[in-house]
Amino acid sequence: MEFDSCGISLKEWQDKEERIETALNIYILKIIQGKNRKRILLYAVSGEQSLPDILHWQNTDLNEKDFKLVLGQSLGGKVTVDLTKVPHILIGGSTGSGKSVFLKSLLMQCIKKNAEVYIADFKGGVDFTPIWHKKCTFIMKEQALLDTLTTIIYELKHRKFLLKDCGCANISEFNKRYDNHFKRIIFACDEVAELLDKTGLSKDQKELISKIEQNLSTIARQGRAFGIHLILATQRPDANILSGQIKNNLDYRVCGRADNILSTIILDNTDAANKIPKDSQGLFLNHEGVLFRGYLFDESKTFVE
Ligand SMILES: Nc1ncnc2c1ncn2[C@@H]1O[C@H](COP(=O)(O)OP(=O)(O)OP(=O)(O)O)[C@@H](O)[C@H]1O
Ligand SMILES: [Mg+2]
Repeated sequence: MEFDSCGISLKEWQDKEERIETALNIYILKIIQGKNRKRILLYAVSGEQSLPDILHWQNTDLNEKDFKLVLGQSLGGKVTVDLTKVPHILIGGSTGSGKSVFLKSLLMQCIKKNAEVYIADFKGGVDFTPIWHKKCTFIMKEQALLDTLTTIIYELKHRKFLLKDCGCANISEFNKRYDNHFKRIIFACDEVAELLDKTGLSKDQKELISKIEQNLSTIARQGRAFGIHLILATQRPDANILSGQIKNNLDYRVCGRADNILSTIILDNTDAANKIPKDSQGLFLNHEGVLFRGYLFDESKTFVE
């Protein structure tokens, strides 16, 4: 829909989004300024439409592009993230909001796209059925995690050196030239705040966690061109646990049901607290304000090739 702005600023149109939705019985996807600054473009769907209650994953949903992941279904269609452009993802949500299922739906796609997936899980991997243990590398202790991250950073430097040497800007270019030589590396952690919390730790343990943090920060800053990605989830609303260095580089944000504090940490606004009903599972908002339903999937069927 296109409107004359009537001299009203874009911000004011955006601030009044809910009122416009009610008045016109529509769901607004986005409001932007037209090329002609006097015009306001309003992208919307009918208010009669709704998100699916359950969205079952089918293997045909897999996006063929290197390296696009499908997050779920919004009123405007499928929501995707291209890790070659936005390399890292931060997921938040209170307990039972569907974070783990969502994280797994992304990791499952990474595996299908032939990435190397590392999962830090200090709960002993019990949240993951045996098939995951065949397909991914699990890290269950702090020291092993530091060793793994050190190896990943070594690989990052190796890739950096080789790419520079052959004049490739990133691994997509390199892989086109050299027959898919490098696999993408995905590092995931379901409870990253638990992992990085230094409260009550001894000096040695604190040092270990700091080193882990530094390595995560290096990957967050440099991983994109070299095909090394972080997908981190948290339920704890502690602002100071995830250091700015890491957080600021996790550009794609997704938040499920949350309180004001957690929503603000993840999305920089309280929308997840306001727009996602308290009893909902598998409903998420991304940092662009798009509400979507995440996939539910049956591991035993999904992983059969
Ligand atoms: N996309 C979805 N669609 C429908 N139901 C879902 C979806 N995702 C999760 N659920 C339901 O919500 C339950 C909790 O999901 P999940 O374990 O992912 O939550 P969580 O946020 O990881 O919780 P916790 O913080 O306690 O680990 C699942 O067992 C499932 O029944
Ligand atoms: Mg969980």
